[in-house]
Amino acid sequence: MSLVVDNVSKEYPTRGTEPLSVLRNACLTADRGDAVAVMGPSGSGKSTLLHILGTLDRPTSGKVALDGTDPFGLPEAQLAQFRNARIGFVFQEHHLLPQCSVLENVLIPTLVSKTTNPAETEAYARQLLDRVGLAGRLDHRPAELSGGERQRVAVARALVLKPTLLLADEPTGNLDRTNAQSVGAMLLELHKQERTVLVVVTHSADLAKLFPRRFEMNDGTLQPA
Ligand SMILES: Nc1ncnc2c1ncn2[C@@H]1O[C@H](COP(=O)(O)OP(=O)(O)OP(=O)(O)O)[C@@H](O)[C@H]1O
Ligand SMILES: [Mg+2]
Repeated sequence: MSLVVDNVSKEYPTRGTEPLSVLRNACLTADRGDAVAVMGPSGSGKSTLLHILGTLDRPTSGKVALDGTDPFGLPEAQLAQFRNARIGFVFQEHHLLPQCSVLENVLIPTLVSKTTNPAETEAYARQLLDRVGLAGRLDHRPAELSGGERQRVAVARALVLKPTLLLADEPTGNLDRTNAQSVGAMLLELHKQERTVLVVVTHSADLAKLFPRRFEMNDGTLQPA
């Protein structure tokens, strides 16, 4: 399995005696090509799970393995490299740099990567932008794009280093229904072509129903839906 989440829990300390338990023994395994949607009420722990999968936050207990490696066993500098190389992120906000062009934004993850060849990655970035329908927008700044177009750039950026794991937290949350459908479909299509493990958190039942595997988070407990 490319991704193994084994009894992952997350607690936050509080001023009282009991810690706040936001994730309880979450288990999930996925292989390349698997697409998983996570739904559930606000505050149930979905983003917490995604942050842990993305190695942006550490579990209180339990194990995560990506391509057989426990990222939390790595020293900080190696963990940053591992995250950069293996994991792509798409957030609800696009987080594009306003002063950079569309092409430059897609290339940002490659700037800190030690393993990439600049000419090859630029060619791949152009190809990804073509695949998301933005070949005619390479020199635009984010402010000169529509909301849906910005999210397409964010998807291309997440894939530019060919990650194993593609994570998306409410990727269509800021879009109208039509744009949400097309960005969601495009995310799934690229995931299929690139054979990533895709984990998407969404409130949209329309988006979730496109996913072969669905989970529901309730009060920190993850269950197949
Ligand atoms: N750093 C933190 N310290 C303490 N509590 C936190 C922290 N981060 C999150 N929480 C709590 O953990 C719970 C789960 O938060 P999380 O962001 O994972 O929810 P969510 O399911 O993504 O919700 P939403 O759908 O609104 O985005 C919330 O009750 C939140 O208040
Ligand atoms: Mg959230």
